[in-house]
Amino acid sequence: MSNSALSADREFAFSEDNFRFLTQWVGKNTGIVLADHKRDMVYSRLARRLRALQLDSFAAYCALIQSPEGEAELGNLVNAITTNLTHFFREGHHFEHLLQVLQGIAAKPNSLKKLRLWSAGCSTGMEAYSIAMTLQEALPNINQWDVKILATDIDTNVLETGQRGEYALSALEDVPAAYQKKYLEPVKAGASKGQVNEATRALVSFKRLNLLESWPMQGKFDVIFCRNVVIYFDKPTQRKMFGRMAELMQPKGWLYIGHSENLFNICDAFTLEGRTIYRKNT
Ligand SMILES: C[S@@+](CC[C@H](N)C(=O)[O-])C[C@H]1O[C@@H](n2cnc3c(N)ncnc32)[C@H](O)[C@@H]1O
Repeated sequence: MSNSALSADREFAFSEDNFRFLTQWVGKNTGIVLADHKRDMVYSRLARRLRALQLDSFAAYCALIQSPEGEAELGNLVNAITTNLTHFFREGHHFEHLLQVLQGIAAKPNSLKKLRLWSAGCSTGMEAYSIAMTLQEALPNINQWDVKILATDIDTNVLETGQRGEYALSALEDVPAAYQKKYLEPVKAGASKGQVNEATRALVSFKRLNLLESWPMQGKFDVIFCRNVVIYFDKPTQRKMFGRMAELMQPKGWLYIGHSENLFNICDAFTLEGRTIYRKNT
């Protein structure tokens, strides 16, 4: 066991019991499994919360979480624990594939001209906006379509960023050059940030959704991106997640998952069609 998080030279006392309590709470409420080697990570991410709340130990923080007064802190605890790494056009082959899928749908003479797409575990929205840009590329007359992208996450901080659609210029460099001209606002001289343009932002709705809780969505999705989210969950939770996604999907809908994930022994409602690309069987 790494003792660095427990050692006396730390700013806050952090006992084995405190770590166990926090990992159990997080596992039960978010699905995120925090293994023993995450001890230092838990310490450093939550130490910020202790400072903000002017608490002097993890024991005091755990006591707060269990008290009625601690209810307002639960969201901050979740926001601090989630890992939000993402970027525009991450795993670019997914967007090349999606472009072809959407062009195929657009080419059908009797298409319903209605599409529903979901970025589940969207982080700061770069995934959802990459989908939105791909959609506009595939459907030149998109205004004649009923198209919506739902972008959900458990973390309220990242959703605020997504809603604004404002990102560091270095992050926006991942948007292909031709798309930058079409789908980003012109960058003001001297600015350190840029913004996704209004038409692209209008395609995406950001909502807080804990995947472990009930899902209020009624209609079925044609496409779901759930990438690098369930990797933090245990297998039974992954099974439940993908089973529920299969139920919420149109027959022959497309599912894109993360680069180190697969559905083997997890869900047989989908067939593997490409690298981390699945299609619903019926
Ligand atoms: C590593 S990011 C992946 C972002 C994006 N899908 C991508 O691949 O670039 C994982 C996201 O899943 C979210 N997440 C973790 N547990 C969740 C849960 N139970 N419900 C909803 N979102 C969750 C985190 O807040 C985080 O933003």
